[in-house]
Amino acid sequence: MSYTLLLRNCGQLLTLAPTSATGPLAGPDQADWPIITDGYVACVHDRIVALGPMAELDEAQVTAATRVVHAAGRVVLPGLVECHTHLVFGGNRAAEFQRKLRGESYLDILAGGGGILSTVRATRAAPDAELLAAALRHLAGFRRYGITTLEAKSGYGLDAETELRLLRVAREAGRRQPIRVVSTFLGAHVPGPEYPGRPADYLTMLARDVLPQLDPAEVPFVDIFCEEGAFSVAQARDYLTRARELGFGLKIHAEQLHELGGCEMAAALGAISIDHADYLSAAGAARIARATGGRTVAVLLPLVPLFLRQERYAPGRKFIDAGLPVALSTDFNPGSCPSKNLWLALSMACLKMGLTPREALAAVTINAAWAIGQQQQCGSLEPGKRADLLVLDVATAEEIPYWLGENPVRHVIIGGELMAD
Ligand code: NIG
Ligand code: FE
Repeated sequence: MSYTLLLRNCGQLLTLAPTSATGPLAGPDQADWPIITDGYVACVHDRIVALGPMAELDEAQVTAATRVVHAAGRVVLPGLVECHTHLVFGGNRAAEFQRKLRGESYLDILAGGGGILSTVRATRAAPDAELLAAALRHLAGFRRYGITTLEAKSGYGLDAETELRLLRVAREAGRRQPIRVVSTFLGAHVPGPEYPGRPADYLTMLARDVLPQLDPAEVPFVDIFCEEGAFSVAQARDYLTRARELGFGLKIHAEQLHELGGCEMAAALGAISIDHADYLSAAGAARIARATGGRTVAVLLPLVPLFLRQERYAPGRKFIDAGLPVALSTDFNPGSCPSKNLWLALSMACLKMGLTPREALAAVTINAAWAIGQQQQCGSLEPGKRADLLVLDVATAEEIPYWLGENPVRHVIIGGELMAD
């Protein structure tokens, strides 16, 4: 069948697809993926069917029915995978931002009933239609940054009914626009306001009343925030163990503000990702890499310390050197990162975490896909994968983190369709 879409004269085709990869890219492999110069990518409907140097393009498959995009020497790469967001919430926290600027800390604001809990109040009060409209607006913003697959957590309901409502809104948002949305249940964000000082009781309620109502085919992951003021390592272990028994993949927010041991605990349970990890040591990372055989991905979120005015960033360089695969995400949420700019996160990972541009590019594509179990579908340019592609207004991979804070996206293609804006 003739090609339905052809990207031609791609100055650099960043494949993100080493032929030997059977897991997330780890150690030296995170930077070792092929770039094809002066390449093409051919698609039939929503799938990539061929790619390679222009000299090898089968012109016989290019017919009047083929939509041709001339990349004109620009960089082409897979659509970005945003593997950690809190997409659905009501209100915003601009007022708390002012308090933070005056010196109050994230945990102090939370302990005073603000922070996550203030977003919970706004979210509970918002009708579905309002939450959906906001989620769709945010997804449109992500799409313009070239995000083509996105993980969305619940976690601002903190009671059974509202948490289920947030998951339904995320699913509906996924249906109404082209970005593929993958849901995670984060009911265990902090103890619900009805459970002051009783985190274990709150988790018992979630495990009894909510987890059994969820279908792992629709909500594949269960996440928990392991931190002072949220849940302890022991509480998180019990809860995640129950989630695993019910067939969910596991994720954790851990070592964000203190070194409690949540990352190692979750990795030992087989978590697909351990997220934040700003306080995870290089030795801890090496133990996790060894114990999991490089299957658990560290999802690093460099815009969070920036926005919370913290000096400490996860030592991503050391993690990669220790063999721990690294992914990057914004952590888009109203409290610790109201930004959707994954390109800025990529630059910040180079500047503050010591990643090379090539490592950082793998961290927002193929390793991010592994972090949400979507590696068969997206994250690299390979025949058979979904035709999610970006044309960037740069000529080389090294330029991408250099244009700090810019959106380099010129064209977004999702499932073989060229997006209009
Ligand atoms: O990933 N750390 C916990 N949860 C979010 C922030 C949520 C909020 O402040 O609203 C995070 O940073
Ligand atoms: Fe988060």
